[in-house]
Amino acid sequence: MRLILLGAPASGKGTQAAVLTEKFGVPKISTGDMLRAAVAAGSELGKEADSIMKAGKLVPDSVVIGLVKERVSQPDAKNGFILDGFPRTVPQADALEALLTGLGTPLEKVVQIDVTRDLLEERASLRRTDIRTGHIYHLKYSPPPLDAVLEHRADDQPETVKKRLDQYDALTAALLPHYEKLGLLRRVDGVGSPEEITSRILAALDH
Ligand code: AP5
Repeated sequence: MRLILLGAPASGKGTQAAVLTEKFGVPKISTGDMLRAAVAAGSELGKEADSIMKAGKLVPDSVVIGLVKERVSQPDAKNGFILDGFPRTVPQADALEALLTGLGTPLEKVVQIDVTRDLLEERASLRRTDIRTGHIYHLKYSPPPLDAVLEHRADDQPETVKKRLDQYDALTAALLPHYEKLGLLRRVDGVGSPEEITSRILAALDH
């Protein structure tokens, strides 16, 4: 399975990617997770990405394209992957297409998780991540256990979330007609329980 999960910030891509990666036995490739790991490690890349992410902007295309090229070429991605948060711009989509064509492993599906803006803001503001396991919780919809060690992402402050949503509308939404034209796009209503959304995604992948 070679799949892209597309959707606005906090639409549930990471939550669904964690389930689908188990189901299909292929790795989840999240550029957001990779960049946060670089920030936590204090690497040169992390230092460059940190202020950009905190400002709710996109990291330069060349940087994330390099990360994905390297990751997709790893042995565990040979039989497929779930891309979460990449591509986000037309140049990223073009680079991915060229990469997969070169590898002889074309993209199979693109699933857009569709959620209204007011819900996206609520999902982001109450999101918490367990720093030990990476598990994503929500203080209202998916409460963490008492022993979880929780992090509130720096870019989940309300003003930053608004900027991230604007970036999505301005740059990433343009990918939807692109993948529609290629016949790869499946749209899924992202409002409902996480289990309901998983069922909708699986049904959409059958068509
Ligand atoms: P990234 O980490 O990719 O963030 P994002 O796309 O903004 O997506 P999120 O992680 O915010 O949300 P999600 O859709 O995964 O939702 P989640 O499952 O957590 O990117 C962060 C930053 O890195 C970017 O702003 C940019 O700076 C940089 N970056 C990353 N990739 C880049 C790229 N390709 N190019 C350039 N820059 C890049 O769910 C959200 C919340 O909702 C959680 O609390 C969850 O528990 C809850 N929830 C999930 N599903 C449901 C449901 N069905 N019902 C109720 N609650 C739910």
